[in-house]
Amino acid sequence: MQVTPLTGRLGAEVFDVDLSKPLDVVTLRNIEMAFADHSVLCFRDQSLDVDQFEAFALQFGTFGDTPFITPIDGHPNVLRLLRRADEQGPLFGSGWHSDWSFQASPPSATLLYGVDIPASGGDTAFISQELAYEALSAPMQQLLGGLQGVHSARRSYGPKGTFGQANPQRSMEIIGDESALRTTCHPLIRTHPITGRKSLFVNEVYTIGIEGMHDAEAKALLDFLFNHSRRIDFSCRVRWQQGSLTMWDNRCVQHYAIDDYFGHRREMLRITLAGEPPV
Ligand code: SIN
Repeated sequence: MQVTPLTGRLGAEVFDVDLSKPLDVVTLRNIEMAFADHSVLCFRDQSLDVDQFEAFALQFGTFGDTPFITPIDGHPNVLRLLRRADEQGPLFGSGWHSDWSFQASPPSATLLYGVDIPASGGDTAFISQELAYEALSAPMQQLLGGLQGVHSARRSYGPKGTFGQANPQRSMEIIGDESALRTTCHPLIRTHPITGRKSLFVNEVYTIGIEGMHDAEAKALLDFLFNHSRRIDFSCRVRWQQGSLTMWDNRCVQHYAIDDYFGHRREMLRITLAGEPPV
């Protein structure tokens, strides 16, 4: 197995490993270590059916909860992210976020497998929230360390949210409901349960406030953090190929599906793995 970093700290491409069969202990350990080092791993040249994709994912944990989106038939933990060539309207995932951060135990990792990739465009961008944390001043780190962010799915899946209403033109079946209005609090700074590194844990899609702060105060601080956390220096970008599988760590990375491939079809399969309450 060959691991080639994409940037100095975030993301790596992985070659010469076959994910269609159970991994031997050494290879699994090497992947876990590479994942801890790079937070985003893009495995190239894979050929997986849905069962093999699930079996690969389950070597790293158990399935997480997948709300609001109808999964593929017979596989309740696998989503098909599909965009027809002529499809308009908001693109799923096209905003900086960490998957399902509104859940009490947000997913540890997400795995995305490229089935049909546009000839150009359709990359996924990532930003390291460890680098974002490390670039803050000590007083700012100290202030944030005592605060809890309020997370909610309402802007995306609430009745008035981006995907709140059924839309027969949309190729993905996304069904928002009132449960999206619930809120959950998580620390603004979390510590990774495996690496022990600290990262910012906010995102503009799901973080709607800061516990105990007036809306205007929270907005000013969150706007600063949203802008700060997406600095280009903290980023990497995965250029998809047919058969690429990318796995990212939602505990320390945000991602963004780039909406730049109108006229081309894109189809991906997605699995999230269960995480733990952020601390
Ligand atoms: C997502 O947010 O999970 C979608 C990412 C992508 O489609 O590139």
